Amino acid sequence: MKKINYPSVILTMLCTFSMLAQEPIQVKVMPDSEAPIISKHIYGHFAEHLGRCIYDGLYVGEENKVIPNTEGVRNDIIAALKELNIPNLRWPGGCFADTYHWKDGVGPKENRPTMVNRWWGGTTEDNSFGTHNFLNLCEELGAEPYLSANVGSGTVQELIDWVQYTNHDGVSPMADWRRENGRENPWRVKYWGVGNETWGCGGNMTAEYYADIYRQYATFMPGWSGETEVYRIASGASEDDYHWTETLMKNVPHHLMEAVALHDYAVFDWSDKGPSVNFDDEIYFKSMEQALNMEEYVTKHIEIMDKYDPDGNVALFVDEWGGWYDAEPEVKNGVLYQQNTIRDVIIAGTVLNTFNNHAKRVKMANLAQMVNVLQAVILTDEEKMIKTPTYHVMHMYKVHQDARLLPSKIETNNEFRGLPALSVSASEKEGVTHISLVNIDPENDMLVELDASELDIKSIQGQILTSDKLQDHNSFDDPEKVVPQQFKAAKLKKGKVTLTIPAHSLIVLQGK
Ligand code: AHR
Repeated sequence: MKKINYPSVILTMLCTFSMLAQEPIQVKVMPDSEAPIISKHIYGHFAEHLGRCIYDGLYVGEENKVIPNTEGVRNDIIAALKELNIPNLRWPGGCFADTYHWKDGVGPKENRPTMVNRWWGGTTEDNSFGTHNFLNLCEELGAEPYLSANVGSGTVQELIDWVQYTNHDGVSPMADWRRENGRENPWRVKYWGVGNETWGCGGNMTAEYYADIYRQYATFMPGWSGETEVYRIASGASEDDYHWTETLMKNVPHHLMEAVALHDYAVFDWSDKGPSVNFDDEIYFKSMEQALNMEEYVTKHIEIMDKYDPDGNVALFVDEWGGWYDAEPEVKNGVLYQQNTIRDVIIAGTVLNTFNNHAKRVKMANLAQMVNVLQAVILTDEEKMIKTPTYHVMHMYKVHQDARLLPSKIETNNEFRGLPALSVSASEKEGVTHISLVNIDPENDMLVELDASELDIKSIQGQILTSDKLQDHNSFDDPEKVVPQQFKAAKLKKGKVTLTIPAHSLIVLQGK
């Protein structure tokens, strides 16, 4: 006779019973013709001269015969990025930007001076990747360049010259120099950051002092670009520094400032950030708490902006965000190379949902950083390249780019260990609805009942991104451990979509 395994039968019965007993979380998604368009620029990226992001990452040099490249940029990375439809790319920093003198990075490479990358490991920067490489790469990707200019150790003239060099199509000293360096037509760069983290590595300024400096820089920037107007971005607050945003909104005339930035990383302790892979549940929850703070920060910064700018002329750009952990033990100081796991999937999904839901004011965001640094979408090891789990989130979420937001509301208790367990955002474009859902619970599946009765949906399908363990990741030996799978378990009946979202997973549903 077959032996019955009583403990396992009891466990199965208990699980089944608890699933049956679980009250579904009720979500309503509504059409709203007045709702904002989710700017594609929320899906922007950031590449800094830091660690192996540019050198030995994106850029392997024009002379490299081993790794196929276009003007020195790896072809495999270009192909992977094209699949993401990356809308914009911010460069050259970060903290690096306020030490960078762009003129050192144009003209014959053999004549370019070196500099010391003081913020990131004291490495010698040879300026071989410069303005032409970056702007040509953006053209190749079909992405808008976002140049982050040096205010901390630069001058107003240096910035005006950069605008003239990249954007002026008449006769002028900088436009002529650009032509001499091989580029006839201007690139017409629209997005310009006026300093970076000027409260810290960009000059340790007070908000009041920076507001005055900003006014001076911003005055001289327009007028070089023909029909393309420059879009000036003020260096913004960190996390909950509301005084910073308030001071900029109050002290800078709004005709001089198209956007204010905000930086917020999911770091729970700057002196001990924890491992990128071998983290435990406690660390996971601390990271999630930090990541989910984005909702509060964005809401409160927007409240301040609404007070001074009720018509919404000045945008909020979250131009640095992502998970930040201890660098992998084998890398040198200042390199910030970290692995990327299902925790990063959950962070990216929830934070992007926040940006989508605040699309009225949040018009750009830049994930930090694109290759080999922090929450990267791509990792490289010599000739090998892998797509991280975060890459797949950006791929699944690209459906929201330039789609109209569908406001959503979680109508039942959504609290789990003091955090919202479910995160949702939805959008509609050309008759197709997309709903992104993230279950942050590391252990329990979640039953969801979604009221879509006001949407015109006749069929539903989806994709899911998850893995057995939160710590699972893609490696050079196992590059496809975490990849999206088809999700067929959502049922549509009389305008209600029901589904079970597995523990620690992200789903994007498509309704037609
Ligand atoms: O992205 C890494 C660093 O984080 C950037 O250089 C800086 O702006 C921020 O502090």
